Amino acid sequence: MRVLITGSKGQLGTELIRSRPPECEVTGVDLQDVDISKANEVTALVSKVKPRLIINTAAYTAVDQAESEEEQAFNVNAVGAECVAVAARSAGAKLIHISTDFVFDGNSSRPYRPDDPTGPISTYGSSKLEGERAVMKTLPNESVIIRTSWLYSAYGKNFVKTMLHLMRARDHLRVVADQIGSPTWAKTLSKAIWMAGLKNELPGILHWCDAGTASWYDFALGIRDEAIRGGLLEKSLTIDPIGSSDYPTPAKRPRYSVLDTAETVEVLGLKPLGWQEALRQMLEEYSGLGNSKK
Ligand SMILES: NC(=O)c1ccc[n+]([C@@H]2O[C@H](COP(=O)([O-])OP(=O)(O)OC[C@H]3O[C@@H](n4cnc5c(N)ncnc54)[C@H](OP(=O)(O)O)[C@@H]3O)[C@@H](O)[C@H]2O)c1
Repeated sequence: MRVLITGSKGQLGTELIRSRPPECEVTGVDLQDVDISKANEVTALVSKVKPRLIINTAAYTAVDQAESEEEQAFNVNAVGAECVAVAARSAGAKLIHISTDFVFDGNSSRPYRPDDPTGPISTYGSSKLEGERAVMKTLPNESVIIRTSWLYSAYGKNFVKTMLHLMRARDHLRVVADQIGSPTWAKTLSKAIWMAGLKNELPGILHWCDAGTASWYDFALGIRDEAIRGGLLEKSLTIDPIGSSDYPTPAKRPRYSVLDTAETVEVLGLKPLGWQEALRQMLEEYSGLGNSKK
């Protein structure tokens, strides 16, 4: 099967390409090749590649910066998503579009189900929600939206790598403890995306994240302990929990954004890995890539 992946140099795109199934002939493109918000560029690319499946991971992902770059965020996450869906429709391709837990407001007291009401509280979340709506409107029967949360990987920029860097440089860190979510390794997400790509008849929206919940503070403790165990960090350090109000950021983030994956687990027949185990495996891979120097 011919597959086109946008955002191929991002953390998820990189993992998708690395884990491509042997039966898939994959073309990966990123911003240097095609700007997804330019309809003519996307259509020309899709007519040339002739994919049966498009996986759209390309996105404007700078959550805080989006507050001052609203137009750019909507241009990529909403207009861009629509351009990809239009091109998929004209080529008769199926589309898997990646979205986020940040489409929810965070006021729930149980994991969010795919059909729960959305209510983004940031520009990034609003732009991603508009992208979801454009995809569902343009390609109602041939698209699947997969929402995920708190992504990290050995490739690209993310919380785990930022924390490791800070932990090597400092004796003390303060990390937000009142936002709860599910850290998700882009590699385990890639597996779920490929399984969805090879299946027919899926629900319109799926939720996928690694199992278990954590605050950013819990996640930081996990990174510290696992990094010490894996030889990525020489010494321990103190990490103190703080509230979101002690660490003001331009974008508001949901207080609670755990995704309910029960339906996805059922339809894909895939059980999520616990986030601590996923983190352990990612750090092992990261260390193997020559990053073990303390
Ligand atoms: N990161 C998270 O924590 C998280 C959580 C939940 C959901 N998601 C969603 O998961 C997906 C993948 O995220 P990720 O973490 O892999 O993001 P990422 O590492 O930022 O990768 C996104 C890629 O898209 C490219 N891109 C940006 N604007 C583009 C445009 N106009 N046309 C074509 N390509 C463009 C970026 O290029 P440049 O780097 O050159 O800009 C980058 O290579 C996104 O849909 C994101 O919204 C992410």
